[in-house]
Amino acid sequence: MNKKSPPAASPLTRLVHAGKHPTFDGGSAINPPVVRASTVLFDSVTQQRELRGRRDGERLFTYGARGNPTNFALEDLVSELEGAHRTRLFPTGLAAIAMTLLSYLKPGDHVLMSDSVYEPARKLVDSFLTPYNIRCTFFAADGSDVEEKIEAGTRMIYAECPGSLVYEMCDLPRLADLAHARGLLLVADNTWGSGCQYRPLALGADVSIMAATKYLSGHSDVMMGTVATTKEAWQPLAERSDAFGLTVSPDDAYLVLRGARSLAARLAMHERNALQVAPWLQARSEVATVFCPALPEHPGHALWQRDCTGTNGLLSFELKKDFDTAAAERLIDSLQLFGIGASWGGYESLVTLTDMRRARSVADWSSRGQVIRLHIGLEDPTDLVRDLMQGFAALAD
Ligand SMILES: Cc1ncc(COP(=O)(O)O)c(C=O)c1O
Repeated sequence: MNKKSPPAASPLTRLVHAGKHPTFDGGSAINPPVVRASTVLFDSVTQQRELRGRRDGERLFTYGARGNPTNFALEDLVSELEGAHRTRLFPTGLAAIAMTLLSYLKPGDHVLMSDSVYEPARKLVDSFLTPYNIRCTFFAADGSDVEEKIEAGTRMIYAECPGSLVYEMCDLPRLADLAHARGLLLVADNTWGSGCQYRPLALGADVSIMAATKYLSGHSDVMMGTVATTKEAWQPLAERSDAFGLTVSPDDAYLVLRGARSLAARLAMHERNALQVAPWLQARSEVATVFCPALPEHPGHALWQRDCTGTNGLLSFELKKDFDTAAAERLIDSLQLFGIGASWGGYESLVTLTDMRRARSVADWSSRGQVIRLHIGLEDPTDLVRDLMQGFAALAD
């Protein structure tokens, strides 16, 4: 029996009921099947011609490069989570970012990018935008100087909120007003919010990007990016992705769908654990600042309270200036439960040493301490604190 999904108000319900495409007569499995396909067969030449004639406007199963039913199921789940018209899938989060820039910008255009963007997105400026004569200016991560940086040729405002590494918040509805009053596109990297804790499209963005590699898949075993848009913004993205032949494997789409079903439950636990570790870090005499927008001391806390429904497992802390890079590395190397790794969003705890001086150009981090980023996983937080305790002991060695 296939029942229709109930109208779902909450992300929790959407995560369980969205993206199901039963395809068989009789009973059906709860999960959509993995449909591996390159060639798709048609009943007749007429049907082939007819479907291929419609596929630029509609989502139809006509060739593997144009997606397959497993991918379509994941696209639907992401669209429901993000509150989007439609969604496209890309092989990585970075590919999703690059394809977004490529879809909406052309030579001669200018883009405003938040100072807090994921660092490889920053590198796209030198490797792709500048050689293609697309200029980029970075704006303060809290969005305070956006208006004065808009130029005649500006076409896009690209924000990451909360920002990478120290989670700066910007006022997305304000950026949307600024952008839309001038006919600009507002794009947001929503990897932190993962469609559950932050919803850029509902706050006025036109395009929302996620690295599904992180919380959506949740198990550190698959790479994927998603781009979800409003109806008005959809066409350029769809056309460019089709032109470039971009798709993802149905096996990977299946893994992300499977991971996403438990996203809300995992996030609740990541949040609970992170909020148990955060005050312990704040109380350490070696720590100058703990960064997490859910903490009242965070400069973006009021916006976080207004716009987010929770926080995740990401927690960064700045050591006091007495501790140099070697000391920070000693702390990290001595941790037993935290894997040394730059990604996040899986079930496990991770630690990485950041380079804030390289990661920001508008904000000046030159006189500040070493920043270590933790991803608090699903382990027992008392074990994590015990591990951190012995890590801090290594600072003094
Ligand atoms: C905020 C953010 N956006 C995008 C990406 C890119 O995702 P991927 O690693 O799948 O390319 C990352 C990866 O760390 C990220 O942190």
